[in-house]
Amino acid sequence: MKPSEKRILEVKKLTMDFGGLRAINSLDLDICDKEIAALIGPNGAGKTTFFNCITGIYKPTSGDVIIHKNGNTERINGVKPNLITKKGFARTFQNIRLFGNMTVLENVMIGRHCRSKSSVAGAIFRHKSNRQEEKDIVNFSYDILKKIGLEASVNELANNLPYGDQRRLEIARALATEPFLLLLDEPAAGMNPNETASLTDLIIRIRDEEGISILLIEHDMKLVMKLSERIFVVDYGKKIAQGTPEEIKSNPNVIKAYLGEETNA
Ligand SMILES: Nc1ncnc2c1ncn2[C@@H]1O[C@H](COP(=O)(O)OP(=O)(O)OP(=O)(O)O)[C@@H](O)[C@H]1O
Ligand SMILES: [Mg+2]
Repeated sequence: MKPSEKRILEVKKLTMDFGGLRAINSLDLDICDKEIAALIGPNGAGKTTFFNCITGIYKPTSGDVIIHKNGNTERINGVKPNLITKKGFARTFQNIRLFGNMTVLENVMIGRHCRSKSSVAGAIFRHKSNRQEEKDIVNFSYDILKKIGLEASVNELANNLPYGDQRRLEIARALATEPFLLLLDEPAAGMNPNETASLTDLIIRIRDEEGISILLIEHDMKLVMKLSERIFVVDYGKKIAQGTPEEIKSNPNVIKAYLGEETNA
């Protein structure tokens, strides 16, 4: 990290045990303001577990998860996922988790409800008192879908979208929570090359236009090398390297643990 850069997330010595299995082993990682960073490593290395630990799905066995925001510092270990969302973390999941029988717009509106006073039930049954807030949520959600390029599909059922669009919709729903940090778990998985190219542009735009920091887990090395300012590499739950794409490409430990597998594939 350059001294001039502001850290927004600081994870120190994070450890997560599942019974006898140490899925994350004393991992240090930090994210700077408006940075695009990647977390890579072989299957089962602990990447998704890391996301689950910092978003409150799992309470880490030990270590610190610290956020720095508006001059305040807060340790958020064990804080529940809905509160972590309110604090400004948003994520997508390795296995798409959309409401398939709801429309594209409704999926984004659900994301938005974490920042509104009315409940999701209130929105669905449309209580009178909630109507203005509902209108605002619809407009806000529609604007996000425009930015993401899904405005033509607002009334489609999420299940009927092409796969690449479903992944983009997950990002739209995450953005509806107005995060300062966006965590993407394998956003390009299953995408064709055209979809991956447009995802790459989208991620850059989210950072440049919205000022949101991004940490992505990804197996597509071309995408990782193109997008990331810094890369963290894990293997068996341990960080084995961190650095710029150039540094990572030439790191012998990384080649042995991970990139070697890919290039030989
Ligand atoms: N809830 C759980 N209970 C027990 N073991 C778990 C649990 N979640 C993850 N693990 C184990 O922790 C290790 C890390 O899993 P994780 O899903 O974090 O890997 P990953 O790096 O995301 O892999 P992939 O690239 O395949 O998605 C694996 O050995 C996995 O089986
Ligand atoms: Mg995973």
